Amino acid sequence: MIVVLDFGGQYNQLITRRIRDLGVYSELHPGSTSAEKLQELQPKGIIFSGGPGSAYAQGAPMADPKIYELDVPILGICYGMQLLTQHFGGKVEASNQKEYGKANLQIGNDSLLYKGLPKEQSVWMSHGDLIVEPPEGFETDATNPSCPVAGMSDNQRNMYGVQFHPEVRHTEYGDDVLKNFAFAICECAGQWTMSNFVDEQVEFIQRQVADKNVLCALSGGVDSSVVAALIHRAIGDQLTCMFIDHGLLRKGEGESVMQTFAGDFNMNMVKIDAQDRFLNKLNGVSDPEEKRKIIGNEFIYLFEEEAGKLTDMDFLAQGTLYTDIIESGTDTAQTIKSHHNVGGLPEDMNLDLIEPLNTLFKDEVRQLGKELGVPDEIVWRQPFPGPGLGIRVLGEITDEKLEIVRESDAILREEIKNAGLDREIWQYFTALPDMRSVGVMGDARTYDYTVGIRAVTSVDGMTSDWARIPYDVLEKISTRIVNEVQHVNRVVYDVTSKPPSTIEWE
Ligand code: XMP
Repeated sequence: MIVVLDFGGQYNQLITRRIRDLGVYSELHPGSTSAEKLQELQPKGIIFSGGPGSAYAQGAPMADPKIYELDVPILGICYGMQLLTQHFGGKVEASNQKEYGKANLQIGNDSLLYKGLPKEQSVWMSHGDLIVEPPEGFETDATNPSCPVAGMSDNQRNMYGVQFHPEVRHTEYGDDVLKNFAFAICECAGQWTMSNFVDEQVEFIQRQVADKNVLCALSGGVDSSVVAALIHRAIGDQLTCMFIDHGLLRKGEGESVMQTFAGDFNMNMVKIDAQDRFLNKLNGVSDPEEKRKIIGNEFIYLFEEEAGKLTDMDFLAQGTLYTDIIESGTDTAQTIKSHHNVGGLPEDMNLDLIEPLNTLFKDEVRQLGKELGVPDEIVWRQPFPGPGLGIRVLGEITDEKLEIVRESDAILREEIKNAGLDREIWQYFTALPDMRSVGVMGDARTYDYTVGIRAVTSVDGMTSDWARIPYDVLEKISTRIVNEVQHVNRVVYDVTSKPPSTIEWE
């Protein structure tokens, strides 16, 4: 394993990801992690990440000094290299010319970090401080015109520093630099694969659960589906999945979840049909926040009620991801997420949490799903909000409006898939504004609903841009929707980014 110590840089998760992509397991830990704790992890290498601080400033985040004595290779990236320099008595200064973006690196020696790489390469820089003098014992490996020490190393101590960011794609040979660190310097085996991960986790879950029983709330989304498949692989019938159909699912979704998990996987499934209960509660409610609250609360009450009927459950499985844990800052993250996902559990159920995805990133969960035989349509499923179509029917929800969203959305999904755009567009759906307009169909005046198409590109849903769907695809979608979905005479395409809009319309 290679441990990445987090000193606050914006690409830190990416470093961990890149290392894992090399087949070497990697974890991100706080920069304040003690040498003792690190030693317990038995890393073969340590990476100090970048960060916004100045290594020479008072109160700057520092690594535990004992880490330098662990006799484990260290690679310092950007701020990480400046920490190394500061610790070993070199000189770090504020640069009078901050450097952001592309730079040309000149490599001047045979440092192992650049083994097999060209002596001149393009790298990505992002720094305000620089090293003017490497510490004693360190040799300058690389320079660029505005940065006299763009790379340095001390072969004796097995310590390396780079001012540039090897983890970003803009750095031409970034992966190779990390590869050299992982293999040539740390001598990692590079055998971390998804199939090994499955074997390890299956064994771990079997030990953890023993002869007890696990309950999993299965929504049909990627995370809960993969958790269920993994736990099922480990303990078979000791797993029970609960699937709540709140009547706000997309067309065919309920059937497809049941077919996949009860049918193909042969899992114990408890399906709760609660369409009427939810629609009754939502009757006459048009305020978006009110609708969300009703759906969220009702979901929790129902889950509690139904889970309470299953008297012999010991564990609750959750699809918590690694990003959930590192983004919310470690210790408290697990409880926050568990409440967020399924709400407060009945106290007397006393379930222990089991979260086998909590070391994985989203795309690794997809790989894991594939490894476990979860079908592509689930593995590549786009995000779907908990309140479902309840927030895509704007204003008051009625059966008729739900039907329009369901049918138009099914057409959109089909055509996006036919056009081969389903992996490219991050999220796409139809929404039904609470308005009608005049149209003409077959020589007669109509006064019908408008369907809105929303399709966005995004990385994490925090920001997004509208997807540039080709006109002919849009045309086909629009024609099919007005022809095939009753009570629709107009289709519009949402061309706003987030911000200022949000992805969902409510
Ligand atoms: P917005 O609309 O806030 O959406 O730009 C960002 C992403 O979050 C999803 N979303 C939700 N997911 N519960 C969820 O589980 C919700 O209440 C919820 N609201 C929005 C949305 O689909 C998009 O992917």
